[in-house]
Amino acid sequence: MSILIRGGRVITGTDDYVADVLVEGETVTTIGRGLNADADRVIDAAGKYVLPGCIDPHTHLDMPFGGTVTIDDFESGHTSAAFGGTTCHVDFCIQGQGQTFGEALATWHAKADGKALIDYGFHIAVTDLLAGGTLEELASLPEQGITSYKLFMAYKNVLQVDDQTLFQAMQVAAGSGALVMVHAENGDAIDVLVREALARGETAPIHHALTRPPELEGEATNRAIQLARIAGSPLYVVHVTCKEAVEPIARARALGWYVWGETCTQYFFKSIDDLAKPDFEGAKYVYSPPARDASNHAVLWDAVRTDALSAISTDHCAFLWDGQKTLGADDFTKIPNGGPGLEDRLVMIHHFGVNEGRIGLNRMVDLLATQPAKLFGLYPRKGTIAPGADADIVIFDPAKEHTLSAATHHSKADYNLYEGTSVTGAVDVTMVRGNVIVENGELVAEPGVGQFVKRARFGEALA
Ligand code: URP
Ligand code: ZN
Ligand code: ZN
Repeated sequence: MSILIRGGRVITGTDDYVADVLVEGETVTTIGRGLNADADRVIDAAGKYVLPGCIDPHTHLDMPFGGTVTIDDFESGHTSAAFGGTTCHVDFCIQGQGQTFGEALATWHAKADGKALIDYGFHIAVTDLLAGGTLEELASLPEQGITSYKLFMAYKNVLQVDDQTLFQAMQVAAGSGALVMVHAENGDAIDVLVREALARGETAPIHHALTRPPELEGEATNRAIQLARIAGSPLYVVHVTCKEAVEPIARARALGWYVWGETCTQYFFKSIDDLAKPDFEGAKYVYSPPARDASNHAVLWDAVRTDALSAISTDHCAFLWDGQKTLGADDFTKIPNGGPGLEDRLVMIHHFGVNEGRIGLNRMVDLLATQPAKLFGLYPRKGTIAPGADADIVIFDPAKEHTLSAATHHSKADYNLYEGTSVTGAVDVTMVRGNVIVENGELVAEPGVGQFVKRARFGEALA
């Protein structure tokens, strides 16, 4: 099958030009003006943007967490992603207590098998190096294309690791070619603040944010940076929310250290005030780290514009408000942490970032596609549009207006973080390796078309 995408404005992380793009089989083969190809199908993209498919480096599909399981599995999650212009994601495979990494990965592969609509990889979330996976097994994972290790510095007695485990994983990564990712909040201090709050009878959702102050994100971020520096591993700090965490990352990067950070869509738009909404509505915004004081929105836009932060993910970790978030109706610590957003990232960043002049189009593509591909071993097969690259392509109509809502999104979540927000710019067509997945507002592919991607080691190209 060949497809000629005619006359669109091709926008990569660096370039912006009008051209035809010829897709043959799964790859882009030719780019040029007035291509005279005898393609099976021609898509007129005049007036539209032709973007590399977005890559979400941070999702939680079908994940047991907080006494329940995230509501989107690989089928509904991928459907939602495809409608939002995301063609590849890297999900967190969580090592259960006592489990080997191999056992955890077998569980995650089984979750995705037969359901995938977009391409996917896995990070391994290391939770237990004593009774479960060994350092040797961890070191071997890049051979299977698992080239990033995630460690949680928070969620005490659930996912949190101590500094010894974190440091040892960093030492392994330094030798194995993996990228270390951290959830940077000081879980021990948070635990004290949470117990004190509960003892005072403070049980409402707002206390989730009040017991996780930004200083504890800043402290853990700085600690992880210093530990990675000693261990000699590259470090990627996930879901950065505030000035206290941006500053140590910016400082390390200015020194040329191997440190990167991401933020997530919701942190540009939500604030601690959302957690104070009445009638338990605040629970919709309970995720960790929490939404901060609104002054941080400008800090984050500056950080992504100046490359202090290098990627924007969604941290899609969707729960129903009615039936899952309500587990914590009487106690904020029992509200499952996480929110939806896999579908909303491109349109929100395009509208409020590009249309409103905070970042340029190239930088938007860089943050949503190219940098995630480079950092997570997917480039140059993914994250750009070039001859030889996978034909993961989004045709985007920059003039189309629409309103975000749970009534129309494709996640199973019963709420949308941006409910009622009107944006200009919409996904017309999503293509994964030359397969059209979404067009004319319809899903037009069958589950199973998405493939597991064995990612390259950190800093290496994916052939
Ligand atoms: O609240 C969140 N972010 N839930 C997902 C797990 C994590 O910390 O990334
Ligand atoms: Zn996290
Ligand atoms: Zn997460």
